[in-house]
Amino acid sequence: MSLLRKNAGWARRYRPIHNRFTDPILAEQNPTHPHSNPTDSATIVLAGATGALGLLIAHHLRQRGATVRALVRPTASTGPEAESLRLQGAEVVAVDYNNAAELTKACQGASCVVSTVSGLRAVIVDTQKRLLAAAVAAGVPRFIPSDFSIDFTRLPEGSNRNLDLRREFQRHLDQAPIQATSVLNGMFSELLKGTAPVVLPGPKRVVYWGDADQPLDFTTMVNTAEFTAAAALDPTTPRYLRVAGDVASIRGLQAAAEQATGQPYKLFRVGGLGAFGKVITVTKTLMPASDDVFPPWQGMQYLHNMFTGLPKLKSLDNDRYPEIRWTKVREVLAPSR
Ligand SMILES: NC(=O)c1ccc[n+]([C@@H]2O[C@H](COP(=O)([O-])OP(=O)(O)OC[C@H]3O[C@@H](n4cnc5c(N)ncnc54)[C@H](OP(=O)(O)O)[C@@H]3O)[C@@H](O)[C@H]2O)c1
Repeated sequence: MSLLRKNAGWARRYRPIHNRFTDPILAEQNPTHPHSNPTDSATIVLAGATGALGLLIAHHLRQRGATVRALVRPTASTGPEAESLRLQGAEVVAVDYNNAAELTKACQGASCVVSTVSGLRAVIVDTQKRLLAAAVAAGVPRFIPSDFSIDFTRLPEGSNRNLDLRREFQRHLDQAPIQATSVLNGMFSELLKGTAPVVLPGPKRVVYWGDADQPLDFTTMVNTAEFTAAAALDPTTPRYLRVAGDVASIRGLQAAAEQATGQPYKLFRVGGLGAFGKVITVTKTLMPASDDVFPPWQGMQYLHNMFTGLPKLKSLDNDRYPEIRWTKVREVLAPSR
């Protein structure tokens, strides 16, 4: 039961970490990017720009000198996030995603469309299909979908509701006459300090299912945004780019937590992966159906996927943009100053 309660916070507690003005890790970033090219005024269309990742990508695109056209729904165009985008020098364009002509006009002249929208089928498949069609109609050469996950291409259908939707959109994207690049980054490292019920500072336990030596991929949201901004401005990107700011097993997380806090952490193996699968099924059955994008059982599916090792990222592209300094899990787990 306590595991369920811990998981219930997965989405709720995740929200605030996007604030680049209050996030301690982000605040430490050098405000001037050493390799930014202020003359690079390529126009990047950013859908979902008011979101946690979108705001960070907009920031790093601006640091690299790009012109950012942030697409937001009319309801979000007057909110504080839209205002923050304007202050950063982004052009905020309110669009109706159901209006093809409006969407196509908003994509015109861009060298890449980056999507960071978040949602279920209506957003990840339907809205992104409309955005893709608009990008193609406007003659935009490149598209980065809202994937930003473990390697869903290696997962079996039905093992993760949200990642099934990404594979569904992938099938449309791969048919479209546009150069697509997915950024795969494992789990956002910040979740280890927030909603992922793995490293528990209270009882000083690292909780897991399966094998404590299975390598797992973690990347901070800031690093993911920096890398995505660089990829958006790079016309030569391949279909997939895989990055991990840190690769750590459960034992590695234990060592990272101990180094970060100076306190001993013990491992707590709840059970095997078969048992974890059953817990997820029961949780899903007991919970009332909702439109929540990240219900507790989905977070559990994500962890289950990672513990199987199937979506482990192979051949990392971390060195593609050498100016990026990758943040270690240990740094994320360190107490906030
Ligand atoms: N790897 C990981 O551990 C991890 C963890 C969390 C998230 N992610 C992924 O990262 C990506 C970005 O997530 P996020 O946390 O930044 O999301 P978020 O903060 O929830 O923001 C998502 C944006 O989506 C837009 N949106 C929502 N519904 C929409 C709709 N019906 N039509 C058009 N736009 C809509 C909103 O834009 P407006 O309201 O402004 O129009 C919002 O700004 C997603 O792919 C998400 O799954 C990965």
